[in-house]
Amino acid sequence: ATVSVLVPAAGQGTRLGRGPKAFVRVGGRTLLEWVLAAFAWADEVRVALPPGVPPPPAAANVRFVPGGAERQESVARLLEGAGGDVVLVHDAARPFVVPAVVDRLLAAVAGSGAAVPVVPLPDTLIEPEEGRYGPALDRSRYALVQTPQAFFREVLAEAHQLARAEGRTATDEAQLVRALGYPVELVPGDRRMFKVTFPEDLALAEALARVWEERPE
Ligand code: CTP
Ligand code: MG
Repeated sequence: ATVSVLVPAAGQGTRLGRGPKAFVRVGGRTLLEWVLAAFAWADEVRVALPPGVPPPPAAANVRFVPGGAERQESVARLLEGAGGDVVLVHDAARPFVVPAVVDRLLAAVAGSGAAVPVVPLPDTLIEPEEGRYGPALDRSRYALVQTPQAFFREVLAEAHQLARAEGRTATDEAQLVRALGYPVELVPGDRRMFKVTFPEDLALAEALARVWEERPE
């Protein structure tokens, strides 16, 4: 099967506070460069850029498109014109792509048409009540969702069309696919695939960049 990687990179990086996040450097490379290196094997990589940001130099398998105001809109624009049988949607803000997880996703999606990586919650999870300690949720019943998320391209396209028609938005693609009534398989993720979000995440990313190998397993 051919694989198109869709990379939403059009965010402003408000919480990080260093300008558009895809162009923030870690270990001497931008977050986007880390991601492009990880997917050099793909048939096609499509990247959504923030408005007004010129496309950086990139390999022949990379295309740039203007992003939207919301992540979902950026992914919708990436899907238009995408060619793969399978699409992998991956946040530019996750520089460390663990190959073993990608292998699991590609194996799972071939059977199910939709697969996403999850990791367990490390901490106790509560619902605060007006700034005070509230009820604790059963942590073992929850999971944190990562990217890449893998889908048959036609399934994701249908999910996006339905969401648009119904005016629904979601923070990831799997929610839209699930809303179709389509089952989304879970595979074990990896905590190194964390999303660089807050300023303190940069120190962790710098430390990981120093020991990172493209094939760490
Ligand atoms: N993204 C996008 N288009 C948008 C908003 C977000 O392509 N309109 C992308 C970001 O570039 C990022 C991914 O979606 O790779 C995950 O979003 P997030 O971590 O929230 O990044 P930002 O939106 O840039 O950060 P913030 O919410 O702090 O502004
Ligand atoms: Mg955001």
